[in-house]
Amino acid sequence: MTVSVEVPAVVHGGDAPALAQPLRRGDACTVVIFGAAGDLAKRKLFPALFHLQCDGLLHEDFALVGVGRDPMTEEAFRQLIYESARDADDPSPAGEIDDEAWARFAPRLSYVQGEFTASATYAALGERLGVIESARRQSDGRLFYLAIPPSIYTGTITHLERSGVAERVNRRSTRPWVRLVIEKPFGHDLQTAKALNRTVRKAFAEHQVYRIDHYLGKETVQNLMVFRFANSIFEPVWNRHHIHHVQITAAETVGVEHRAGYYEDAGVVRDMFQNHLLQLMCLTAMEPPVAFQADAVRDEKIKVLRAIRRFSAAEMHDYSVRGQYGAGSIKGAAVPGYREEPNVDPSSDTATWAGLRLLVDNWRWQGVPFFLRSGKRMPRRVSEIAVQFREPPHLMFPLDQGKTITPNVIAIRVQPEEGISLAFDIKVPGVGVRMTAAKMDFSYAEAFGKAAHSAYETLLLDCMVGDATLFTRGDAVEAAWEVVDPVIEAWRDKDPEHFPNYAAGTWGPAIADEFIARDGARWRQP
Ligand code: BG6
Repeated sequence: MTVSVEVPAVVHGGDAPALAQPLRRGDACTVVIFGAAGDLAKRKLFPALFHLQCDGLLHEDFALVGVGRDPMTEEAFRQLIYESARDADDPSPAGEIDDEAWARFAPRLSYVQGEFTASATYAALGERLGVIESARRQSDGRLFYLAIPPSIYTGTITHLERSGVAERVNRRSTRPWVRLVIEKPFGHDLQTAKALNRTVRKAFAEHQVYRIDHYLGKETVQNLMVFRFANSIFEPVWNRHHIHHVQITAAETVGVEHRAGYYEDAGVVRDMFQNHLLQLMCLTAMEPPVAFQADAVRDEKIKVLRAIRRFSAAEMHDYSVRGQYGAGSIKGAAVPGYREEPNVDPSSDTATWAGLRLLVDNWRWQGVPFFLRSGKRMPRRVSEIAVQFREPPHLMFPLDQGKTITPNVIAIRVQPEEGISLAFDIKVPGVGVRMTAAKMDFSYAEAFGKAAHSAYETLLLDCMVGDATLFTRGDAVEAAWEVVDPVIEAWRDKDPEHFPNYAAGTWGPAIADEFIARDGARWRQP
């Protein structure tokens, strides 16, 4: 089935992306990346910034300063960024680089070497920023991006403030803006998240802080808001009267990769649920915000987190299920079990798969389970939100022996093939009434071509124009920890299931099927 789409006109000029929308160009600013030689900077941030350059979305007075421990000449730093941009395959294919855009980008890049906790680093950084800014006609702001291990967030933030390189700026101030971007994990649990929020708030006002969750920069995640609130046909059925349950899935084929040091302690709930999955749930369940503005949207999201029913350790069995992958195969290739991965404890109890059943105690959602599931080493990489509707109260059509009716499902695919589909029943042509399942499918790629921007581009641009709608506020981070902390604690105190309990390349542990079946549901295999 095809869906016709009206493509809006291009708003900004130059080498514009295929999917044109009123994109705003970043302010005249300096982006300072702490952790400039790190994995995140190389894999995501540098390619995203360069791509913004290619699209003409960086101000001519944009500059990038990398801060890192490694000694590196300016030239080596530029080479590092060149290679990162060339080798990234999101959104443009790896191996391609726009030479003209690179020639404009390279002179804007510089590097400051130093320890993140040494005052001398901040003195050197302050000097560098002064030189960059004094050469400009206009200077709108400084954006500090913490792409460093969370253990040094506090020290770095404190130094930034004490050195005067970053300052608290009042919302109505006419001084250049100063913003801080903090990557996940934001805290290790509720207590540490609160402590980090205190440190952050000592140095910055809340409106200056951008807690980033890259899932919120994905195209379909943003489209979820448009889908729900710019169409009037869905809202009347978006509630407990019509919806049977909601399934939110983030399945990955990769294993723990080289991140055992972090993952052994984090596990899947801290890694994926506290942030990405709960954010998707908030957008699915929230009430219509009064405006598409940062605080209006975030006020509605936090109400969802606060309405999620809390459960005791004794009830955990009804609300959570966990797993760990054993050896198996992914796309035909044999892969080791989690306990055999490099730097993983051979008797590790870390969960690499989890399913949660969350209930939202409010008028709209009373009694509707939200099943959240995420795991590593599953058969396909897919993230989606599936809203399953109730069956008709009375079915007058005969069903074939052993057949059940296909439930109506709206599936919002976040990745990899972004789109929205609706499953429904139709009559099979011919004599007599026989039913079969049909699907209406809207695919972003078919309608608009490959995504024009990666999630990090969207979010970095938002930081540069001061739009915090897609970023998590301090209170919401804490509220999300309040939801997951009891699960992590209960699991810690209870003997785990017999790990490993699912083979790599399968959809998760068998006990998970029984878990969801209690609500008359089945996990989807999207
Ligand atoms: C990160 C997690 O936040 O998200 C990783 O730390 C995970 O473990 C990744 O692999 C998934 O992101 P994406 O965009 O690839 O779905």
